[in-house]
Amino acid sequence: MTAISIRSANIGDAQMIADFHVKVWRHTYRDLAPTEAYAALDEQHRGKMWTEKLSSNDNSQMVLIAEVDGTIVGIGAAARSSDAIFKGRGEIKSLYVDPDFKRRGIGRALLARLATHLRSIHCQGVALSVVKGNAPAIAFYGKLNGQQVGEYTDPGPIWRSQNIVFAWDDVAILIG
Ligand SMILES: CC(C)(COP(=O)(O)OP(=O)(O)OC[C@H]1O[C@@H](n2cnc3c(N)ncnc32)[C@H](O)[C@@H]1OP(=O)(O)O)[C@@H](O)C(=O)NCCC(=O)NCCS
Repeated sequence: MTAISIRSANIGDAQMIADFHVKVWRHTYRDLAPTEAYAALDEQHRGKMWTEKLSSNDNSQMVLIAEVDGTIVGIGAAARSSDAIFKGRGEIKSLYVDPDFKRRGIGRALLARLATHLRSIHCQGVALSVVKGNAPAIAFYGKLNGQQVGEYTDPGPIWRSQNIVFAWDDVAILIG
């Protein structure tokens, strides 16, 4: 199998990450997201979002790109979170793997790198939210021994999705 490499993203990667995000997000949520969200969360919207993210001075943030032969096949992002639902844990904010590259360990490897980073900045645990109904992702986090610790409704405005919160208080479980 061709080698997969993982590197930190920089501002010049913003639109490439955005295009990849839209592609995988739409593939994942086409039967779950409302039509308005599907349309609104386009390359332009995500391009602005990733440009802002990669220009931010939040030094708790890490954004990773997984590549095969220089082509993007996965992205992951994490940072500290002030959201009460995460109870001080570091948050996995994005994790997306190209459908053609699933089940090759890319999601697990990205998560391990992000968890290592969150531990290095002294976050007490790792958490994330996943949309109810995203069965493959829920199975993935369960397989990696994530604990379901809560639920919340995304405040929107684009999609008031119902979410499950997964947490790992022993971060070593994710790092292996
Ligand atoms: C969820 C996701 C990140 C998993 O990434 P991945 O690279 O395919 O996962 P890995 O290969 O690292 O899987 C590790 C283990 O998790 C489990 N797993 C992964 N996907 C699974 C699935 N669909 N069903 C059941 N178990 C699964 C398996 O045990 C797997 O090991 P195995 O293949 O040796 O059996 C990926 O499918 C994805 O990007 N989905 C679309 C976007 C998304 O939903 N992101 C999460 C938003 S919160």
